[in-house]
Amino acid sequence: MLIRTATFADVPAMCELEEQSVAAAHWSEHEYDALFAADAPPRRVLVAVNGTDDAVMGFLIASCATDAWEIENVVVAPEERRQGIASELVSNLISRARAGAATSVLLEVRESNAAARGLYEKHGFRLQGRRPQYYRDPGEDALLLQFSIAVL
Ligand SMILES: CC(C)(COP(=O)(O)OP(=O)(O)OC[C@H]1O[C@@H](n2cnc3c(N)ncnc32)[C@H](O)[C@@H]1OP(=O)(O)O)[C@@H](O)C(=O)NCCC(=O)NCCS
Repeated sequence: MLIRTATFADVPAMCELEEQSVAAAHWSEHEYDALFAADAPPRRVLVAVNGTDDAVMGFLIASCATDAWEIENVVVAPEERRQGIASELVSNLISRARAGAATSVLLEVRESNAAARGLYEKHGFRLQGRRPQYYRDPGEDALLLQFSIAVL
């Protein structure tokens, strides 16, 4: 498995993965296309691919417009979960954030999303707050998590 920066050509595979993942943040194909527009706000879009055929097994999208980078979506194909793919994506992003002089990485997660909460907890994200009834269908609180980047 390799982690590489995504390109416009990865959008169909990313959309397909997202459609298979009820718990993912759901965007339109147009929104995924817009990630690669010349005037798009700064982001890191990473894909985890099979080293043999470059098939996309997972992806991570993060905005990096300020010192506080923000993970906007992380998805791994259902049949590829629990093999450390999301961990590799999150570790790779944290390394890039550190290299980019970010001070923290933030995100929002549904309170009931045990898999995602376990993933972020394992990487040292800590609870910063709660947004009551932030999500709809079904209505649910968002937990705000933060990873602080130590200044060495
Ligand atoms: C959350 C998600 C990205 C995790 O991907 P993954 O590749 O399976 O995660 P990893 O194998 O790297 O697991 C890393 C850690 O996360 C936690 N974790 C992952 N899946 C878990 C589960 N089903 N239940 C509890 N903890 C889980 C564990 O702590 C795990 O470490 P361990 O395997 O040493 O126990 C994946 O389940 C997914 O795509 N879910 C749907 C989309 C989603 O919810 N995205 C997050 C939006 S904020």
